[in-house]
Amino acid sequence: MRFDFVTLFPELIAPYFEASILARAKTRGLIETAFYNPRDYTDNKHLKVDHTQAGGGAGQVMFAQPLDFLLSQLRREAPGLHIIFPLPAAKRFVQSDAKRLAKKERIVFVSGRYEGIDERVIERHADEVFSIGDYVLTGGELPSLVMCDAISRNIPGVLGNEDSLLEESFETDLLEAPTFTKPENYKGSLIIKEYLKGNHAKIHALKRKLALKKTQYFRPDLYQKANIKDLEEKK
Ligand code: ADE
Repeated sequence: MRFDFVTLFPELIAPYFEASILARAKTRGLIETAFYNPRDYTDNKHLKVDHTQAGGGAGQVMFAQPLDFLLSQLRREAPGLHIIFPLPAAKRFVQSDAKRLAKKERIVFVSGRYEGIDERVIERHADEVFSIGDYVLTGGELPSLVMCDAISRNIPGVLGNEDSLLEESFETDLLEAPTFTKPENYKGSLIIKEYLKGNHAKIHALKRKLALKKTQYFRPDLYQKANIKDLEEKK
């Protein structure tokens, strides 16, 4: 999978791929990254990429020409690429999107800055638009990285242990049960006894129960929707 980042600040994004799981994925050739700066494509002689807002309003907006020029060029080179704009005004990005998008060959994330991007660029070029949550960030770089990370770990081979994908939060519509490691007694707090007895059926059942409780407490919306086989389980 290749990820292209269109951003005025590639230095905010590039270091994330220099450590841990995504660095290893790059070394193994499972993911590739490339960066494009809209400033390199502007026809403005002062290399500007933003103007004041039409109709008034505080702040500048990224004007259409540099992004339109660049994205049209990328699309000509690689017609199959998938262009995503992270935006606060969009549908929420969720785990099923991460899984679906992990099957693409090349994804382009277009990060806005200032007060946003001229809507006509989004209309012309977006295959999808996503928000990562109900808050407004200073630009699309962090949301692009968040989505890229969530997508990458669903690409076969990126995680060492593929089983970890199966049990974790959201894969089963439930939040993940608590996890522990050594020591058994940490400053007087003990690991749940059942976890240490080696009866995997019992541990599994207990984890399911704890996952249900956690989901009910933190995410009543998910709990309502969860595919709960046995109504008794909800008690
Ligand atoms: N750009 C600014 N805030 C954002 C958010 N919450 N999600 C996606 N893109 C954004």
